[in-house]
Amino acid sequence: MVDFQAFLEKLYWKYRDVNEGKVASYIPELAKANSDSFAICAVTRDGRVFQAGDVDQKFTIQSISKVFVYGLALEEHGRERLLQKVGVEPTGDPFNSLIRLDEDSKRPDNPMVNAGAIATTSLIKGDGPTERLNRLLTLFQRYVGHEVFIDVPVFVSERSTGHRNRAMAHLMLNFGMIDQKVDEALDLYFQQCAILVTCRDLAVMAATLANQGENPLTGEQALHPEYVRDVLSIMYTCGMYNFAGEWAYRVGIPAKSGVSGGILAVVPNQVGIAVFSPLLDGHGNSVRGLRVFEELSQEFGLHLMDLSMGRCRFEAAIRDSSELTAS
Ligand code: DON
Repeated sequence: MVDFQAFLEKLYWKYRDVNEGKVASYIPELAKANSDSFAICAVTRDGRVFQAGDVDQKFTIQSISKVFVYGLALEEHGRERLLQKVGVEPTGDPFNSLIRLDEDSKRPDNPMVNAGAIATTSLIKGDGPTERLNRLLTLFQRYVGHEVFIDVPVFVSERSTGHRNRAMAHLMLNFGMIDQKVDEALDLYFQQCAILVTCRDLAVMAATLANQGENPLTGEQALHPEYVRDVLSIMYTCGMYNFAGEWAYRVGIPAKSGVSGGILAVVPNQVGIAVFSPLLDGHGNSVRGLRVFEELSQEFGLHLMDLSMGRCRFEAAIRDSSELTAS
């Protein structure tokens, strides 16, 4: 029988020397990332931790933040009001595309593309920018189980170069999709993208979603259980940029990636898994991350549409596996 921890280590060594892809450079500060960094971590819904590689290395969360801010917006506004401002339809376009925004409804298609994420962030409640930022930091703290900080150089770098995001935000202001002051909304969006996390943090966040919104390590409720299905559905259909369909077909679990090289994925009621490697393919997804997830899904029958094994192979693999407990 396959031992889960041993399998993660095997994947780490197998893909460690894959050097295809490029580190993101459109945010100048991200170009400084170490392309050798590589980590894999899994946290089960009962809090067991399995890991390999640089699981404690910090990097900015980037687009993965969109998932969690969307969850907060759902709690604050409810489904119906949020749907009026941000749709739930995959675009098939790159995440920073402006093309569809000027068509038909003037409403961003979904909260995982930049336009939809900026609109979602602009809805976060709070009396002024500091209170709204604190609200977001507290949210992420509930998911990771410890204090979180912003990488200020990355925030400043994106703030001074994010002209496409500014263009989208102003277009949405023109359409009445953003109510709040547009520069404040953009600053908050750039700040949420610059929150520092580790691969282990991402796995805990994913495990929290796998565990109906309750952080399995702290017992804290990070998201109301009523909204977990909304968040997971959007991740499944829109989480991997314009590769989302292929990901759903090949890997088959809700996931979200970010341009600093993280991918987080959720097997509902079972496990949260994260991979970090900054080398990205043309869609903006981590090259090593895609390979690791494809292999994990295949080996343990994690694909949600594949009921032939009923997840038992995964359960068996973790049952007797010695976890490498992180500090
Ligand atoms: O808006 C941006 O370009 C970045 N802060 C986030 C990009 C990212 O990770 C991919 N976006 N879906």
